[in-house]
Amino acid sequence: MKSFDETWEEIHATREWGQYPSEPVIRFVARNYYQRNRAEVKILDFGCGGGSHTWYLAREGFDTYAFDGSASAVSRVNQRMEVEKLQADVRVRDALDLDYEKESFDSVIDSAVVCANTYENIVAMYREIYHLLKPGGKLFSISFTTGTTGYGTGKRIPGGGTYVL
Ligand SMILES: C[S@@+](CC[C@H](N)C(=O)[O-])C[C@H]1O[C@@H](n2cnc3c(N)ncnc32)[C@H](O)[C@@H]1O
Repeated sequence: MKSFDETWEEIHATREWGQYPSEPVIRFVARNYYQRNRAEVKILDFGCGGGSHTWYLAREGFDTYAFDGSASAVSRVNQRMEVEKLQADVRVRDALDLDYEKESFDSVIDSAVVCANTYENIVAMYREIYHLLKPGGKLFSISFTTGTTGYGTGKRIPGGGTYVL
């Protein structure tokens, strides 16, 4: 099933995305996983964009996986990982066409990714994330909402208060 909007590819092909992780993600990962054997904690950066969280997770020694629908974004992240000699499995994938093993992740990080989709696909993505997580695994999810600056400024499309540029 195709959910990826190619507008993201245009964005990533023409500009750089954020390079440094957000404090809420750092706090979540630190609280839940810093005391564990990090090499055994498998975390998926769901829609990695410029890879700021992929970079952070790999640098902190976690078993790091990431994907994005944008080939330009993934290529940049892989370059950065190579230059910094960090290890992560970073793939070009559509969020609704993932080929990871079910129940294999300790955690999934959704930093403003799922929310950038249609309502129907958002529901399907959360279902998919549920299946990717190990029993007891944790989802970190941060979303733009109706109260976020700029909400409603795009062109409205059918389904759950959804807009495109
Ligand atoms: C707002 S950016 C956030 C990027 C990154 N998570 C961060 O925190 O900087 C949203 C990212 O999700 C990706 N994305 C959105 N919907 C997607 C989908 N359906 N399939 C694959 N990637 C998607 C976009 O290409 C973009 O890089």
